[in-house]
Amino acid sequence: MDIFRQKSIILAPMAGITETVFRQLCREHGADIVVSEMVSAEGIKYRSANTLSLLKFRASERPIGIQLFGADPNSLADAARFVQDYCNPDFIDLNAGCPVPKVVGKNGGSALLKDRKLFEGILKEMVKAVSIPVTVKIRSGWFKYEWVDVELARVAEQCGVSAITLHPRSKTMVFAGTAFRERIGEVKRAVSVPVVGNGDICSGEDALAMLSETGCDSVMIGRGSYGNPWIFEQARACIKNRAITLPHRREKEEVVLNHLKKYAQEHGELRASKEMKKHVAWYLRGNVGASTMRNRVFRSSSISELCELVKEAYSEQGD
Ligand SMILES: Cc1cc2nc3c(=O)[nH]c(=O)nc-3n(C[C@H](O)[C@H](O)[C@H](O)COP(=O)(O)O)c2cc1C
Repeated sequence: MDIFRQKSIILAPMAGITETVFRQLCREHGADIVVSEMVSAEGIKYRSANTLSLLKFRASERPIGIQLFGADPNSLADAARFVQDYCNPDFIDLNAGCPVPKVVGKNGGSALLKDRKLFEGILKEMVKAVSIPVTVKIRSGWFKYEWVDVELARVAEQCGVSAITLHPRSKTMVFAGTAFRERIGEVKRAVSVPVVGNGDICSGEDALAMLSETGCDSVMIGRGSYGNPWIFEQARACIKNRAITLPHRREKEEVVLNHLKKYAQEHGELRASKEMKKHVAWYLRGNVGASTMRNRVFRSSSISELCELVKEAYSEQGD
């Protein structure tokens, strides 16, 4: 898929974080591609309302991928077919990296790294089921140093996937230690489909380093976007060898207030007053008095209170 070959800067799928409003915001700030939170293939089978709500996106988010997780080739193929008909994303991604017990316990996510045959069976069925591209996101292996990334990337390529994203940690590492970035180079040399490098990109410079050190075709940013949608523009500036511009205090305040407003419009005030606390705390990191403000943010009980805290926090910062 061409968009994965063009040094694209991609927003990672992150459950509980990358819902539609955050994805729109990241697209506005330079993310070239976004991916949904992981969506359960079994949930799709039962047409669960909560699951179907995860499939909604705005046209402005395109190109967008919907990520599926599961462990049964038929369920995943049916889910992929349903997703294509229901919302027609630009691609469908298979989650083969999630280390969370709830997912792994049912043989999904990174459990697929231990079962080459199942991994292959799922991807073959998914590719067959839809006319849009199928991609896959893997970790480097189940155990540290017992890497299966190259082998599975080759299998995925033979199954007809259009891109492979690698987060080069083992399942057992979860998020500990540093990513084994050299694994991305190994996978890149092993396959001819585009390879997306992911893991520990916290700045524009990190994105450039990932591209140049590993030779990967595109990069994916997860936690580095927390409270910092500007990271995508900054990564683009670094890649193009342009000066990075940092957002001004007033621009930051406006973005945070807008994020709060749009989240409340999309998901309702109650959910917004709970879910936006973490985002606001991330935005305010590094500000003078951030830790006191963080406590107040987490004690707040409404969207209007959160908005007042944001205004107060930025009014206390110098230019
Ligand atoms: C809160 C959270 C939720 C995540 N949810 C998903 C998910 O739904 N699907 C997935 O493939 N990876 C998920 N991940 C992993 C990220 O996509 C990414 O691979 C990982 O965070 C490493 O990249 P980073 O260092 O840029 O954050 C999640 C990570 C975090 C922190």
